[in-house]
Amino acid sequence: MDHFIYKNGEAHCENIPLTEIAEAVGTPAYIYSRNTLKRHARRIIEAFSAYPTLACFAVKANSNLSFLREIFDEGFGADLVSHGELQRALKAGVKPHEIVFSGVGKKDYEIRAGIEAGILSFNVESSFELESINRIALDMGKMAPVCLRINPNIDAKTNPKIATGLFSTKFGMSEAEAKTLVTEIQELPGVQLVGIACHIGSQITDLKPLEEAAEKMSSIALEMLGNGHPLEFIDMGGGLGIRYKDEPDPDVEGYASVLIKHVQKTGLKLVIEPGRLLAGNTGILLNKVIGIKKTPQKNFAIVDGAMNDVIRPSLYDSFHDIATVHEGVDKPEVLYDVVGPVCETGDFFGKDRTLPQLHAGDLVFLKSCGAYAATMASNYNSRPRAPEVLVDGDKYYIIKPRETLEDLWRGEEVTIPGGE
Ligand code: LLP
Repeated sequence: MDHFIYKNGEAHCENIPLTEIAEAVGTPAYIYSRNTLKRHARRIIEAFSAYPTLACFAVKANSNLSFLREIFDEGFGADLVSHGELQRALKAGVKPHEIVFSGVGKKDYEIRAGIEAGILSFNVESSFELESINRIALDMGKMAPVCLRINPNIDAKTNPKIATGLFSTKFGMSEAEAKTLVTEIQELPGVQLVGIACHIGSQITDLKPLEEAAEKMSSIALEMLGNGHPLEFIDMGGGLGIRYKDEPDPDVEGYASVLIKHVQKTGLKLVIEPGRLLAGNTGILLNKVIGIKKTPQKNFAIVDGAMNDVIRPSLYDSFHDIATVHEGVDKPEVLYDVVGPVCETGDFFGKDRTLPQLHAGDLVFLKSCGAYAATMASNYNSRPRAPEVLVDGDKYYIIKPRETLEDLWRGEEVTIPGGE
């Protein structure tokens, strides 16, 4: 359930009619419901309350500072993958010792920044990275906490572009390599082993692969503990999927119980890194119809939002539900391809969607745009990025204004490298 609901035939976010926001900030615009976000955050914390768990929000899903502040206020830490995400998370008030730093290719300055901040762990994905962290930590006269990210070779049964838990992907290391590295770590004075981690993929709607991963990680941890390696936690990553179309509603409590069931055998703390679960269904992209175009085969509803605003349909063929702001119960139904103005055939939000008959100026919204929407936006076709709005009951706030034309070409003056 979310807080995007019809009242008197008109879609609202919480108590605010979407038409009012369109008037105030124009379209396209991302609109988030604060109370949906709070509810999701509290449900996750509550589900895991039976076991010592740190939930780290995957900042890549939605990194707007105001959005992050709401999440950190609910007791979440952060899972991040770049210097930029680290700085955002710190600026939004995360506790540094509740940060895990993931990613297959961390640069030296990123490692340095993480050590300076005092993060909980670098989730190490290869031996070269372990050596870099050790070198940089020694250079700084510090000891860096590390976790080994293991690829458990489990099929998460999700879209192959967002599956990460098989050996055919670039992520993590094999169990065998992790077992070699835990011993090597003892010889490295700049790093301290604190845990093991995995993340098998995203938009996983079946608990079985997640449970299988928890079982495997727990047995690896028990073996490592038995060999005298002092682990503190198991990081099970993120990945639980949400409802975009006809997926089951996420079973957060079931998810918690399958992870806890296995991790508790080790006595170690649990870390999770949910992104989409928290953020996905907190937001929409509000669009205005520019015009309707009929071709010999199709009716196209051309809207002002496009693949540069939400790339998921173009990139992954992902389904996002589309609805009209005015319920349109008295209008005939028409089959549309809802597309944007970008010059690419792949620029679409939805194909063969039945909607009440549309006209230029009508407002339509793309659902489930709280995660991996604004963070994946671009300026393609020199389109300024859309504003972000946070609704809280009877009030709403612009948490990022629409980009201006000057924003588009900022920094494009010609300069000489290293010159005056
Ligand atoms: N932890 C790690 C190490 C990750 O790589 C990810 C996501 C997460 C946690 C959070 O996963 P979640 O709970 O959100 O499933 N852009 C794609 C999703 C890419 C996910 C990448 N990693 C999409 O729009 O579907």
